[in-house]
Amino acid sequence: MKRHLLLVIIGTYAAIVVAQTQEGFISLDCGLPVEESPYDNSFNGLTFTSDFRFIQTGKIGRVHKDLNNALSKQYLTLRYFPEGKRNCYSLDVKRDTKYLIAVSSVYGNYDGLNLDPNFDIYIGPNKWISVDLEGRTNGTLDEIIHKSMSNSLDICLVKTGTTSPIISAIEIRPLRDDTYVTQSGSLRLSFRVYLNNSAGHIRYADDVRDRIWNPFFDSSYTQITTNLNINNSNAYEVPKTALQSAATPRNASGPLIITWNPKPSNAQVYLYMHFAEIQTLEANDTREFDVILKGNFNHSGFSPTKLKVFTLFTEEPMQCDSGGCRLELVRTPKSTLPPLINALEAYTAIEFPKLETSASDVDAIKNIKVTYRLSKISWQGDPCLPKDWSWENLRCSYVDLSTPPQIVSLNLSESGLTGSIAPALQNLTQLQELDLSNNNLTGPVPSFLASMKSLTLINLSGNNLNGSVPQALLHRVTEGLVLKLDGNPHLCKTSLCNPKKEKNKFLIPAFASAASLLAILVVVALIFVFRKKKLPSDLPAPPSIPVPDVDHTIQPESSFASKKIRFTYTEVQQMTNNFDRALGEGGFGVVYHGCVNVTQQVAVKLLSQSSSQGYKHFKAEVELLMRVHHINLVSLVGYCDEGDHLALIYEYMPNGDLKQHLSGKRGGFVLSWENRLRIVLDTALGLEYLHTGCTPPIVHRDIKSTNILLDQNFQAKLADFGLSRSFPTGNETYVSTVVAGTPGYLDPEYYRTNWLTEKSDVYSLGIVLLEMITSQPVIQQTREKPHIGEWVGLMLTQGDIDNIMDPNLNGDYDSGSVWKALELAMSCVNPSSSGRPSMSQVVIELKECLVYENSRKGVKSDMDSKSSLELSTSFTPDMTPEAR
Ligand SMILES: *[C@@H]1O[C@H](CO)[C@@H](O)[C@H](O)[C@H]1NC(C)=O
Ligand SMILES: *[C@@H]1O[C@H](CO)[C@@H](O)[C@H](O)[C@H]1NC(C)=O
Ligand SMILES: *[C@@H]1O[C@H](CO)[C@@H](O)[C@H](O)[C@H]1NC(C)=O
Ligand SMILES: *[C@@H]1O[C@H](CO)[C@@H](O)[C@H](O)[C@H]1NC(C)=O
Ligand SMILES: *[C@@H]1O[C@H](CO)[C@@H](O)[C@H](O)[C@H]1NC(C)=O
Ligand SMILES: *[C@@H]1O[C@H](CO)[C@@H](O)[C@H](O)[C@H]1NC(C)=O
Ligand SMILES: *[C@@H]1O[C@H](CO)[C@@H](O)[C@H](O)[C@H]1NC(C)=O
Ligand SMILES: *[C@@H]1O[C@H](CO)[C@@H](O)[C@H](O)[C@H]1NC(C)=O
Ligand SMILES: *[C@@H]1O[C@H](CO)[C@@H](O)[C@H](O)[C@H]1NC(C)=O
Ligand SMILES: *[C@@H]1O[C@H](CO)[C@@H](O)[C@H](O)[C@H]1NC(C)=O
Repeated sequence: MKRHLLLVIIGTYAAIVVAQTQEGFISLDCGLPVEESPYDNSFNGLTFTSDFRFIQTGKIGRVHKDLNNALSKQYLTLRYFPEGKRNCYSLDVKRDTKYLIAVSSVYGNYDGLNLDPNFDIYIGPNKWISVDLEGRTNGTLDEIIHKSMSNSLDICLVKTGTTSPIISAIEIRPLRDDTYVTQSGSLRLSFRVYLNNSAGHIRYADDVRDRIWNPFFDSSYTQITTNLNINNSNAYEVPKTALQSAATPRNASGPLIITWNPKPSNAQVYLYMHFAEIQTLEANDTREFDVILKGNFNHSGFSPTKLKVFTLFTEEPMQCDSGGCRLELVRTPKSTLPPLINALEAYTAIEFPKLETSASDVDAIKNIKVTYRLSKISWQGDPCLPKDWSWENLRCSYVDLSTPPQIVSLNLSESGLTGSIAPALQNLTQLQELDLSNNNLTGPVPSFLASMKSLTLINLSGNNLNGSVPQALLHRVTEGLVLKLDGNPHLCKTSLCNPKKEKNKFLIPAFASAASLLAILVVVALIFVFRKKKLPSDLPAPPSIPVPDVDHTIQPESSFASKKIRFTYTEVQQMTNNFDRALGEGGFGVVYHGCVNVTQQVAVKLLSQSSSQGYKHFKAEVELLMRVHHINLVSLVGYCDEGDHLALIYEYMPNGDLKQHLSGKRGGFVLSWENRLRIVLDTALGLEYLHTGCTPPIVHRDIKSTNILLDQNFQAKLADFGLSRSFPTGNETYVSTVVAGTPGYLDPEYYRTNWLTEKSDVYSLGIVLLEMITSQPVIQQTREKPHIGEWVGLMLTQGDIDNIMDPNLNGDYDSGSVWKALELAMSCVNPSSSGRPSMSQVVIELKECLVYENSRKGVKSDMDSKSSLELSTSFTPDMTPEAR
């Protein structure tokens, strides 16, 4: 095959409007907490956002703190994937657009194991690269130029060994379609350099496409530079700063040589060379040279243009010989000056032969996934490919590589589906088998099923469908369709009960003698309608107001609470004495001490500006706390929402949070077993109120020991409602994409269902209970079992209660009470939510624990007495609501 170079003619393009706007850029800082998103990179002003919107799985890690100053901010957090074989980002892109895609992974010993991970990265169904972080203390950055096939781009991390795949950043930049054209395949970067002996790389905003240009130089070169402006307007938009320097050979009569070894050695190589004359030539001077790639081409007699970029590139792929690639710039006899080169890019072609699953099938199945809130861990990336990891519960047809696979069978039997049969199913045009049996589907059997020509089996049995079966579908049965409908008590399976209009048209003129049958039908219909109407009143009335029966009853709102108001920013400044005393700092901002009406102490959480997520949480919290009141929920005194100034003003909690007390960071005394139980009971009562006393119920979603605050009497109050959610009402579909909760406390089911329920709060409270019992960290990598739940489980199987208990308690507890509490905690942290008790049961159990403990001490079980710690130590009051 003849290899040749194509000269890019500059001057055909009007000056390109420089896109300084990051338009079309996707810059994801993986693992970035939502509330810190977005931020502008201080180095080049690129705006990074959190990745949470684009992936439902994985966990958040942070590089070891020693690296905090050595790494750019986007590498400080990462997302890792301990679960599932393949985990995928699904990014919104434009179909048929060429993109520069860069993925970086920095391990940074985030897990304390010092074990460099290795894994594969796929683009859609095709493997892109194997990443091995062994010895790569600065991480890896892999780049590819790739054209998107559809409006969504899947980047998948695939486990290949025992280590969990990790990812730190994803950067995607749109490129011009007329650049980096290949005969086939995408382009993997080998290197992109500018010839300069300095140390710094060039990228955005110098490069409007945000390519990374690394400096490259050799001792056999001489550097020439210019300060003059260089016209860089050709399709490649090479940054001017990269063109302002060049290399010439030190031996002015010798060639300039650049060599490299592509991987694999027989790879198809594409080369892009950027030249500009940057020396002022005398009238009798010429610079002319041959551009030779050994074994491939000899482009002879090339002269760079004065102060104007000229790009020479390979139009067809080249192959270097086994010794590697060797580029030579050889001065021609008539030239008075040595050859020169300013910048150079080399790529190898990479084939992505597998076609993605048919786009309409992908859209439809994703729609179904959202409609039914399915979050099976395998349901990520391409549904059918690679074959080994195709989604569970479906089968695809694979014809050949050039035919996109399609879904031919979908089996969502016993998948907990609710709502109606999803209309998106009709877009699975090749579907042969549809099994939706044993779910809780309601509504009619849709008529579109009849027009899905490929269907041979439909199993809808064991649901709650109603209405009648469409005629057309019944007709298909006569043609051989297998239709299973048993176990749908309200579904009429014959043609007699088709919709009213049809019925009237048909019945009235036909048989007068069928009047009795009609009467029966009408009666049945009336009963049905009547039943339906009455149904709500048959249900138990929703619990009205909080009903914690003993112990802490609801108090009338304090004088404070009734005066909840909106404060101006000036008032906030006054009450905090111009923010002179900070109590602590949380993810959303700093908490200050303050006073209202001279005497009343408050804690003022000032939200850091510019965080849109923060504002959302702020609003959620204000709205919630305005609505709910309970003695075990921290109460809101007021708030400030004035322009950029957002503040929440809470009652002051002089005794800090539970975590500080358990870790001994406060006061140096040990909370007794009885007081610990009371604190958890208080917390459980607050939660019980949220779960059963509020309509719709509220899930706190972020229960942890730092969110349990203690007032002057050590009564516990729950704080930080920024992540709480009311349940969606009615049948609106709602998919939570917000990463919720805190690692260690977060319901493991969340990773599967992406959904938090009251039982998730039960789980988190179980973890708090375990912390209280053991005084152990929730997650400690050096422990036999890092997670506290697993660790206690292990200890329990060894029957060793003494090893479990916090040694600081010195055995000062009733062992019956402890066993009961342990039992309760373990049932709360049951991985399956159905195995966990309700919060009301938790309350009952905790009260019994207290009874045991008190009987040991000979204390009469008097649950009405308020707990109060007698403390001789005096505390510096400090700390209040604080976030993560
Ligand atoms: C750069 O070159 C192009 C094409 O030759 C020309 O249209 C444009 O005006 C030049 N720009 C400047 C700033 O000289
Ligand atoms: C990591 O980066 C630092 C600073 O740029 C450099 O000194 C060091 O050699 C790099 N380490 C590796 C293994 O490349
Ligand atoms: C290239 O090198 C020159 C001289 O060493 C230096 O002044 C210039 O800043 C360098 N260019 C870039 C983009 O770093
Ligand atoms: C410079 O290059 C020429 C041509 O390749 C060669 O003949 C000459 O020996 C070289 N000079 C030195 C000092 O290397
Ligand atoms: C080119 O001209 C300059 C003066 O204009 C002279 O010094 C130089 O020697 C000439 N170079 C050649 C190769 O003739
Ligand atoms: C490159 O081609 C030119 C013209 O065809 C020829 O003069 C020159 O010797 C060639 N160079 C090499 C290294 O083959
Ligand atoms: C669907 O899966 C269930 C088990 O999950 C199985 O019993 C049933 O036969 C499957 N249906 C079809 C049509 O294969
Ligand atoms: C089916 O696909 C078409 C075209 O792709 C789309 O416009 C339509 O909304 C889809 N129907 C459903 C019910 O999702
Ligand atoms: C099905 O839904 C009904 C009404 O929403 C509910 O009462 C019933 O418990 C559900 N059944 C299952 C198995 O989820
Ligand atoms: C349809 O589903 C029901 C319940 O799962 C099952 O008993 C029946 O065998 C299924 N029928 C077919 C043909 O798969």
